[in-house]
Amino acid sequence: MNSLAPLPTPSGSASASPCIGVFDSGVGGLTVLRELHRVLPGVPLHYVADSANAPYGQRTPEFIIQRCLVLTEHLHQAGAQVLVLACNTATAHAISALRQRWPDLPIVGTEPGIKPAVAASRNGRIGVMATTSTISSARYRGLIERHAGTAQVHSQACPGLVDLIETGELDSPALSRLLRELCLPLQQAGVDTVLMGCTHYPLIQAQIQAVLGPQVQLLNIETAVAQQAARLWGELKLPATAAEMVLETTGDAAALSSFVQRALGWQLQARSLSI
Ligand code: DGL
Repeated sequence: MNSLAPLPTPSGSASASPCIGVFDSGVGGLTVLRELHRVLPGVPLHYVADSANAPYGQRTPEFIIQRCLVLTEHLHQAGAQVLVLACNTATAHAISALRQRWPDLPIVGTEPGIKPAVAASRNGRIGVMATTSTISSARYRGLIERHAGTAQVHSQACPGLVDLIETGELDSPALSRLLRELCLPLQQAGVDTVLMGCTHYPLIQAQIQAVLGPQVQLLNIETAVAQQAARLWGELKLPATAAEMVLETTGDAAALSSFVQRALGWQLQARSLSI
């Protein structure tokens, strides 16, 4: 895990004081939250895990858009001045609808970094691991059309992976079996660079690296997302406030608190949210 700046104290209740709002279908966006806290240690962060509805990867675009509208409304009411969609699947389907609905709210999406992957690849063969829904989206196809150039992009949908991560299986025999199966087509295609196209996957990045081998470089997008959010937050020129971290979930609050403790080493009490 990355080293962390001292963690802000958890807030007791939701407030409308300015913060960066962050959401994901579940625990995946915590990988973005971790980077946000590293890049902006003094800034209030408010995270919502829509765990009752995870995974999004096998949901319809209509369902995903609807949930994103509800979650954004909640975070906006709670004081979000910048919104981070810490979810590739939500970005693929809903970012345009959110920007239309909240034209004055700066919104940062999370998308597979095809351009940096093409630049980093030595053999021009890159792999993308992402949800079925991300891979079948028009936005993802557009990214490839715009940025792949002459590189070959091998898109690997990973059904089942988020389900295991959501249940806390970060290192089980079932996870290893599934990873071997999902990585095989990428190995057969001879890719030398693989993008983590879902924010859940960095939570099991060591396991993915072990299956693909050290000759394959894995690329992440969380740092770029956090830096973009930091830039937008800086542009707002807000007066400094006390840093606080709010964690909410539409699922089991105790389960989220213990996941956060285990995966990030942060001791925070998550709250339940019914929206
Ligand atoms: N973490 C999300 C993503 O980046 C969503 C995964 C899911 O819920 O299927 O795509």
